[in-house]
Amino acid sequence: MQGSTRTDKECAELPGSASNSEHSAPLTQPFSSDPPRRRVKDRGRAKYFHGREEVLGIVAELRADAEQGAAGDQGTTFLIQGAPGAGKTALLYRCAGEAARDGWIVAKIDSRALHDPIRMSECLDKPYIIQSERSVGATPWVASVSRTKTEAGISSVSRLLEVAAQEMKGLMLVLDEVQNIRDYANHSHKPEVKDTLNLIHNGEVGRPVILLAGGLGTSQKAFGRLGISRFHDGCIVNLGRLPASAERAVIQDWLVKDGGAEGDATPWIDAIARETHGWPQHIMCFVQPAVHIVHSNHGQMTPDGLEAVLRQGQQRKENYYLARVEDLEEQDRMVLGRALSTRPADASFRGSEVRGIFSGEYSRAEAERIFELIVHKGVLARTREGRFAVPIPSMHHWLVYQYRRARTQQQDAGL
Ligand SMILES: Nc1ncnc2c1ncn2[C@@H]1O[C@H](COP(=O)(O)OP(=O)(O)OP(=O)(O)O)[C@@H](O)[C@H]1O
Ligand SMILES: [Mg+2]
Repeated sequence: MQGSTRTDKECAELPGSASNSEHSAPLTQPFSSDPPRRRVKDRGRAKYFHGREEVLGIVAELRADAEQGAAGDQGTTFLIQGAPGAGKTALLYRCAGEAARDGWIVAKIDSRALHDPIRMSECLDKPYIIQSERSVGATPWVASVSRTKTEAGISSVSRLLEVAAQEMKGLMLVLDEVQNIRDYANHSHKPEVKDTLNLIHNGEVGRPVILLAGGLGTSQKAFGRLGISRFHDGCIVNLGRLPASAERAVIQDWLVKDGGAEGDATPWIDAIARETHGWPQHIMCFVQPAVHIVHSNHGQMTPDGLEAVLRQGQQRKENYYLARVEDLEEQDRMVLGRALSTRPADASFRGSEVRGIFSGEYSRAEAERIFELIVHKGVLARTREGRFAVPIPSMHHWLVYQYRRARTQQQDAGL
């Protein structure tokens, strides 16, 4: 099954190293008359999507299986989980786009739609895939039918799906940020949520229906709390980095198609890829300033421009790391940094080992809480082998660097 891979050769470096210095030369790019800023979003749907062929292939197979399945075997749940910025939402959107082109109805739902039929029918009424991406002649949007029927008195989501999906070749429900369903574990609507999840998971809607879910590393556990403990083989993906070829293709597309880069972009792609480790969020950290600078400079890729891109990208990367640890107490960061400092950047741990690191300092319950927080925030991510690792080597180095710096400060202060 697809998962995080650690095969790409990587160049990790400590914050504060030469290329990462905060004191690099200022941007000297000769901007033309105040050019409009190129807008590059760093979350969600990818303008230039590459890679993830294996996952897309599995989802296409699931659709085909669901279409051919006998009653009671016409769908399932497919879960994409990973750290923030791994590319879950972009991949959900891509999977959904392929399904829509194949004539499936795709609807983005939220967790309330799992127990509230009115909410579900509202969700069915909103196309998730923008019109231009749907094939000409695709199944027309039929959810208004389901709304009418809901208003006419269908009182459960399960029944609504059974009725609404009758008209469809297949229905794909896309639920992003699915870790939030854990809130239903102790909720009065838990029975209805469980019913809906089970109906889809067991392929019992009576028509092809797939729940395509994306969420942080705690998502599988959230499903477990609602009674979905076993997924079909291959139906959970722990999303890791992009392979080098896809990473380079993404950078190239942004530089050339949005930045208007002229000439050989290889030196810029090489330099950016050395910083991004195949991590989609990191790619966007560098591509955002790159597009702006190249565009402002009429497609020229100058050494000064590249220096500015690297400086700004590194700052954004560090902001990302800070956001990962902001909910951890200083002491927790120290404990984690100390444990990481004795291990290589590509080391992975059993879950019990990570808990062990903290149970030396805290009660068992508190160690478990911190472990969950660390996985939730993507400081550690699940690997394809079901172990845990810092998903990006430069984040490992950053955590260790922060730990060493804090320890030196404590020592200097005589603590
Ligand atoms: N395969 C890809 N090809 C090109 N760009 C991608 C790809 N995957 C992700 N991206 C881009 O990387 C950025 C981060 O991706 P995305 O928002 O999907 O991450 P995420 O895992 O959903 O993060 P979060 O947990 O914060 O919601 C986005 O700008 C997205 O468009
Ligand atoms: Mg997302």
